[in-house]
Amino acid sequence: MRMGWVIATVIAACLIAPAPSGAAPPPGPCAGQSAKHGRAAANLERRARILKARGRPTAARALRRRARWEARLARYYEEQARARGLPRGAAVTLSTLLRSQVLRRSFLTGFEQLTPENEMKMERLQPARGVFRFAEADRMVRFARRYCKRVRGHALVYGRQLPHWATDGSLTAGQLGFEMEWHVQRVVERYAGRVADWDVVNEAIDADGDYTQNVWYLALGKAYIERAFRTAHDADPTARLYYNDSGIELPDHPHTLAVRKMVADLRRRGVPIEGVGIQNHVSTSHHASEAQMARTIRGFTDLGVKVAITEMDVRLDTPGTPARKLDSQRLVYRSAARACRKNPSCTSFSTWGVGDGVSWLGPAAAGLLFDRGYRRKPAYRAVSRSLGSPETP
Ligand code: G3I
Repeated sequence: MRMGWVIATVIAACLIAPAPSGAAPPPGPCAGQSAKHGRAAANLERRARILKARGRPTAARALRRRARWEARLARYYEEQARARGLPRGAAVTLSTLLRSQVLRRSFLTGFEQLTPENEMKMERLQPARGVFRFAEADRMVRFARRYCKRVRGHALVYGRQLPHWATDGSLTAGQLGFEMEWHVQRVVERYAGRVADWDVVNEAIDADGDYTQNVWYLALGKAYIERAFRTAHDADPTARLYYNDSGIELPDHPHTLAVRKMVADLRRRGVPIEGVGIQNHVSTSHHASEAQMARTIRGFTDLGVKVAITEMDVRLDTPGTPARKLDSQRLVYRSAARACRKNPSCTSFSTWGVGDGVSWLGPAAAGLLFDRGYRRKPAYRAVSRSLGSPETP
């Protein structure tokens, strides 16, 4: 009897264990999604028929539109479960998520992972010393879970978007170290089990390969990086902890080499860093080729860490007709997606936004996978195919 219980417990534990790195979103909460949305579609259709029969065609049409959307979601989840491609991710802000139905819909049927663009940064989570405001981040995590999307937490320790109290010079180095660890602990513990991956330290090295002179470095030296990772790991030992940086897509660039050296050193000393996020903010004229990106990824994975493409966008800065520019953009995206897909330790592929209308680069840069009207651009299909993800129409 007791043995049976032990075996059942072990089997249950295996079933709820986190998906292996690089796998598609966990089957658990996603498994019923297709059926759930299929049922919702059928229900709405039935109610629409009743309304039409009762002489209320306008209300019936509105219900039919919702039914079509539910049916599309059902198709997406079904195809997604079958395809098991690498997760596609996008950064979004809570305000656009709430404001724009078309963004929500493009996101929901186009991506499997969500990165809160600003809502998990320190200035937002702890605007006053010791006063945490989790409401916005909580809403985003709830939204993601409702639709079975993974969440990439961004960014625990960063030299920018800091609250005034951390940068105004009023704290001693000892106090800053304590506050940094307290922040990391509170935030990671709160989302333990719900945020699968964290950008623990963001942009700690600059383009010359030197440590960035941010408030943490100036107070604590490079030891702040190790302390941040150790604290995050203690707070949630199951989360995958990443160092995330921009300008590290070329394999021999001094910036990339410096990050590699830092990661190798952290690994050697047993610091719990599990991955490197390559942001990949590039343009049609300046970007890594597929071979270069493959080498960059391998340079990191050879150290025993995972890699994720975390913030890709491709500014259009080469001359040509609009169609030609979009094609150049497609090729740049495809190179990065292929290089990621071909390395089993590359875990996900994210863009920094969904559509060109809402991007830190501004609409003219047109760097994302959807255009201003949230129509799919050629790069969207190229990325999806390269990653093995569905393109639900
Ligand atoms: O929230 C205020 C708002 O109250 C005010 O009215 C408005 C006026 O300009 O500013 C708003 O804050 C802006 C914030 O985004 C939220 O929209 C800041 O000015 C603006 O500087 C901030 O920019 C963000 C930037 O990080 C700051 O460094 C971008 O949205 C965000 O996309 C960008 O993301 C970074 C990643 O975290 C790290 N990698 C690079 C990437 C792109 O720069």
